[in-house]
Amino acid sequence: MRILFIGDVVGRWGTAFLCQKLPALRRMWEPELTVVNGENASEGNGILPSSARELFDAGAGVITLGNHALRRREVYEYLSQEEAIIRPANFHPEAPGRGWHTYDRPGLPPVTVVNLCGTVYMDCAWEDPFSALDRILPQLPPGVVLVDFHAEATSEKFCLAWDFDGRVSAVIGTHTHIQTADERILPGGTGYITDAGMCGAFNSSLGVKPQQAIRRFRTHLPTRFDNDNSPCRMSGVLLEIDPKTFRTTAIQRVNVE
Ligand SMILES: [Fe+2]
Repeated sequence: MRILFIGDVVGRWGTAFLCQKLPALRRMWEPELTVVNGENASEGNGILPSSARELFDAGAGVITLGNHALRRREVYEYLSQEEAIIRPANFHPEAPGRGWHTYDRPGLPPVTVVNLCGTVYMDCAWEDPFSALDRILPQLPPGVVLVDFHAEATSEKFCLAWDFDGRVSAVIGTHTHIQTADERILPGGTGYITDAGMCGAFNSSLGVKPQQAIRRFRTHLPTRFDNDNSPCRMSGVLLEIDPKTFRTTAIQRVNVE
């Protein structure tokens, strides 16, 4: 079975681009499931229910989030009601929403998508992601398990994938907005990439106007960040997963201008 995973969608601009491109891309690549990291799909960080609905309407089967999952209070009730949008499972137990979702469709093995947040250079995870995944895996139905590990440090991402090699189908990194060229299949059959990349303005600073980001670096003063509106690139990966062994058999980076 094939899963399309799309990296962090940034702002109205990135959301509009993805919604325009995704239907044709799904016809071309024919994924059984499309997973989209939407933690910054609304303008100015975070996600609003309206953006999430747009992504679902365009073909997302599961939306994952990250450190900005709870940035907008307007989404809290939606996170509690809509099961296919998930925030990091290692947030505090009082956080609204859920940390994993099992996508169940006739003819497919159950596909559970787990969202986790890193702890290195991040300030949102309440539980360490390794212990969290140890705790979660026994609760999941037999089937495909795809982990969106939303983290900053390459070492933390790679070590989590190694630790859970053979126990989950894939570990896909998100958060840095920069696609890495290290996709691989680990010896136990876990597909891995350190970061899937971004869907947003390509010649920007991670999706925001470069001059604003430069000012922040030069002055260390509070600086307003606006999303950039230069031409977009959508980055992600296509995974082939054996429906019987639940192992990844192929992982390929995809980029669409
Ligand atoms: Fe993030």
